[in-house]
Amino acid sequence: MNTKWSKAPFAVLIMLSFVITFATANEGLAQQGDKAAPAAAVAKPKQATKGVMFNRLMKRTKSNLPPDQDGIHDPENEGTYMLQPPKEAFQGMPRAITGNRVDWVKMMTDGLISPRADRLDPNAEQEIFEFDVIREVRGSMPDVMFPHDKHTAWLACENCHDDIFIPQVGANQLSMALILTGQKCGVCHGKVAFPVTECRKCHSVKKDTMTKKGAVNK
Ligand code: HEC
Ligand code: HEC
Ligand code: HEC
Repeated sequence: MNTKWSKAPFAVLIMLSFVITFATANEGLAQQGDKAAPAAAVAKPKQATKGVMFNRLMKRTKSNLPPDQDGIHDPENEGTYMLQPPKEAFQGMPRAITGNRVDWVKMMTDGLISPRADRLDPNAEQEIFEFDVIREVRGSMPDVMFPHDKHTAWLACENCHDDIFIPQVGANQLSMALILTGQKCGVCHGKVAFPVTECRKCHSVKKDTMTKKGAVNK
């Protein structure tokens, strides 16, 4: 009993010294962090031009750079130089004015490509859903038409339902603010599908021409 208590002050001292060294170490780190912050802030915009990133400021970006310059492939890896450069691969494909300059929807509707429904099974069939959703837009911009068929030709339902969109017309809050911060339609548009600068592709319905409020069935 006695021995236990006599050791206690030492234990407390040791613990205290831990707390003190910890606190000062943390302070040092915080200071370092503060000093490092401007450097990190400068480095960020550089990264934003690399790879598949959301282009929130809708800046014009160089597209279809050869693989060793695209910021996605490793220029140190000799395999990178065996890849066909996009400009060569995309020759003769229907043109688009943004993104990678190819109109991928036209590629599909013209039958130039037929994406596989399953990576491993070449016979798996894609479930195409023919249902357009029209969303009334506040202000003077034309209304938005979301075509299920063009999406489900590439994408299984689970890509959107229920994580990005509740499958119920009008149940989701949508706005440009959300899209421009990479949410809702912006999860894909501006990253892997045509960019947000192509207003008319989404805002394609003249106001007050809806056959039925909220949605039209094809
Ligand atoms: C690219 C995203 C996306 C994909 C893929 C997708 N949907 Fe949807 N779906 C939507 C959006 C957006 C809405 C409209 C939501 C709103 O208006 O708030 C919607 C609405 C619906 C609705 C509601 C219809 C109604 O009358 O209320 C159903 C049902 C639905 N989807 C089924 C499907 C099925 C089945 C598939 C796959 C074959 C599918 N969706 C694939 C985005 C998608
Ligand atoms: C899961 C990814 C994904 C989401 C989320 C998504 N899209 Fe798409 N969308 C695509 C892809 C992929 C294509 C076809 C490739 C392309 O056109 O770039 C496409 C094509 C389209 C097209 C067809 C354009 C044409 O040329 O006919 C329209 C319109 C469109 N999207 C609108 C929307 C709207 C509006 C929303 C939100 C309600 C939305 N999309 C959400 C991936 C997505
Ligand atoms: C990928 C599809 C898509 C593209 C591209 C797009 N929009 Fe939108 N826009 C939407 C959707 C979806 C809404 C929300 C509609 C609703 O309220 O249901 C919207 C809403 C709006 C609104 C109403 C205010 C708000 O935020 O709800 C304005 C204004 C607007 N868009 C302007 C533009 C302009 C200008 C461009 C081109 C620079 C553009 N949009 C490109 C899908 C798109």
